[in-house]
Amino acid sequence: MASDRPRVLSGIQPTSGSFHLGNYLGAVRQWVALQESHDAFYMVVDLHALTIHPDPKELRARTRLAVAQLLAAGLDPERCTLFVQSHVPEHTQLAWIMNCLTGFGEAARMTQFKDKSAKQGADRTSVGLFAYPILQVADILLYQANEVPVGEDQRQHIELTRDLAERFNGRYGDTFTVPAPYILKETAKIYDLQEPSIKMSKSASAPKGLVNLLDEPKATAKKVKSAVTDTDTVVRYDLVDKPGVSNLLTIYSTLTGAGIGELEQRYEGKGYGALKTDLAEIVVDFVTPFRERTQQYLDDPETLDSILAKGAEKARAVAAETLSQAYDKVGLLPAKH
Ligand code: TRP
Repeated sequence: MASDRPRVLSGIQPTSGSFHLGNYLGAVRQWVALQESHDAFYMVVDLHALTIHPDPKELRARTRLAVAQLLAAGLDPERCTLFVQSHVPEHTQLAWIMNCLTGFGEAARMTQFKDKSAKQGADRTSVGLFAYPILQVADILLYQANEVPVGEDQRQHIELTRDLAERFNGRYGDTFTVPAPYILKETAKIYDLQEPSIKMSKSASAPKGLVNLLDEPKATAKKVKSAVTDTDTVVRYDLVDKPGVSNLLTIYSTLTGAGIGELEQRYEGKGYGALKTDLAEIVVDFVTPFRERTQQYLDDPETLDSILAKGAEKARAVAAETLSQAYDKVGLLPAKH
């Protein structure tokens, strides 16, 4: 692994059974590309998932499923470091140091926490949810990541990471790389097929608006064909007046590499029907092999486990080094063996 490459790190939660088109086009696809140009660390953040109390069996199954899908999407364990967060105990260890560096008010101002806790009520909100962003800070700083590829919704967490890295470095001396956000492009933002004003998401979308990559391809084709458009018939990219058509064009363009302008020309005078029929086929051609590859990894748990064991070993080599520096800087007495 070339260490002169800038390092990226990112994580995905194992909170759903299947990735959806929004996860894939918005994030995972970029992860795959970045393994060519960067020293890339990617993890399934199972500890973060605990903040919403998943069923234990389901969490374990979904963690495997997330790894299988990341591999099916093209992450290559020879080109990146792929691991499960809880396999590297340094995450929670550094998180404690970071907890002690974070103001209570500072953590309480995190907008995702405010939104979620307001919805659930204080008594149903765990301290884990409160500390969620701080565990994320530890995730990033442990690897001295230069850049963190995430969606716009994570910007505040990256800001917190920068603040805490600078605070620690200022107080105890240079220890952590201050990471830059690498906010994934707006063009990669995928909207609900039925309600194109909201982001495609497991929690917000109705089943008909959400394309799960592991669904029956036929059902998926149907969803694409019945996507909401508008009463006009012109295929034109216009997020304000034609959000439904624009979303379809974005999906089309990202999956095929064709430019939006090129697509507008190709469908001039042809109407939405032709666009939807073609796009349904393109999506089916993408999800069919994706499902098969995912299933192959699931059918071979030994290979999957050995990939994760190697990933954890590579990750730990980096994480342990950073943690020991941080422990030393804050004045913890070294254990003698
Ligand atoms: N909070 C991120 C999300 O919900 C997931 C995450 C956890 C993450 N740790 C991370 C992302 C570290 C980037 C880097 O999408």
